[in-house]
Amino acid sequence: MTQQRGCFITLEGIEGVGKSTNSLAVVRTLEAAGLSVVHTREPGGTELAERLRDLLLAVDKEPVEPLAELLLMFAGRAQHLERLIRPALARGQWVVCDRFTDATYAYQGGGRQLDEAQIAALEALVHGDLQPDLTLFLDLPVEEGLKRISDRPHDRFEQEAVEFFERVRQAYLVRAERFDRFVIVDAAQSLPDVQAAIAARLQVFLAARRSAASTVDGGGQH
Ligand code: TMP
Repeated sequence: MTQQRGCFITLEGIEGVGKSTNSLAVVRTLEAAGLSVVHTREPGGTELAERLRDLLLAVDKEPVEPLAELLLMFAGRAQHLERLIRPALARGQWVVCDRFTDATYAYQGGGRQLDEAQIAALEALVHGDLQPDLTLFLDLPVEEGLKRISDRPHDRFEQEAVEFFERVRQAYLVRAERFDRFVIVDAAQSLPDVQAAIAARLQVFLAARRSAASTVDGGGQH
């Protein structure tokens, strides 16, 4: 029997929604279900892509042109996909990634107001054949998100104005409406409530995967 491809799960949201904490909880839930999980992030995920991340987040004298920012995001993504994400999925591992191309539509499309068609062209080039199976969008009003990060030093994105993040959030909500793989999680709840909501959605997803797998190969787990 050929190895069944693992699932690709992404977490998205504006700054301050608790993405890192909650993605760790996602990884623990999946591991508790007996799955082998690779936890990664974008921008980043490989040595080269992490170096690009440093460049992208650094606050420097030279302004970063939106198109250069877009291309650097996809350059890192191409490296990350080929070196880490695709091989892990092919081995049957599950991949949990903090942010992926939805973030590009939200930040470079919504935030920077780049043409969505340019983003779509790069998406088709880099991973037209591969999309997340499940995207957890942690949603929070912008003011609340920015309040939660107010006591830490801000990177180049975090220095943006409230209006920028309003556009980012709206772009995410439009995508959440458009694609069935999205689940919107209310991140304004207490952390235990957010985690309980995520755990419940994961159980539904896992049950659906198990039943799909048993239909395909007569009960095989991966
Ligand atoms: P992080 O702080 O959530 O790790 O993400 C770093 C920043 O990168 C965050 O402000 C969002 C931004 N970003 C984009 O602008 N476009 C993208 O495609 C990705 C993946 C992240």
